[in-house]
Amino acid sequence: MAFIGIARALPHSYASILDKDKAGPPAVSASEEMQPAMQTVRVGRVDEFDDPGRKVIAVSDTEIGVFRLDGAFYAWVNECPHQGGPVCQGRLFRRVLEVLDEDQSSHGRTWDDETLHIVCPWHGFEYDVRTGKHPGMPDIALTPVPVQVQDGEVHILVD
Ligand code: FES
Repeated sequence: MAFIGIARALPHSYASILDKDKAGPPAVSASEEMQPAMQTVRVGRVDEFDDPGRKVIAVSDTEIGVFRLDGAFYAWVNECPHQGGPVCQGRLFRRVLEVLDEDQSSHGRTWDDETLHIVCPWHGFEYDVRTGKHPGMPDIALTPVPVQVQDGEVHILVD
């Protein structure tokens, strides 16, 4: 038997996301290359996070979800690549796998204990907490935010 992740039918809006990716990055002018220094924002103490757990904080007009999983920290902009939903506030759910035999006949579903997904509350798109990627369309991913843990404190780095 083989394990294959369940792929969902993709709405038409994915086409526009993918087309945008194919176009490549926009041209950057010399003045745009001069990035402002990143600022460090305190999120909280490590022991304030459940594991798995999260906090969603606002920095200026951007919301950021900071996740703890197996002792490591990950942070993502709280905006779903599908239609902008508050993805970081969705349910945390183990990845669902479908058990298939050589004939591709289904033998039910099981859980992947190694992979935790965030499920966007708007339309149910899922993203791996560790990688930010959609399991069926890895080109579709959450926007990462750098995280630092030092002396028991969790910080994110933002523009
Ligand atoms: S906004 Fe549609 S699934 Fe997130």
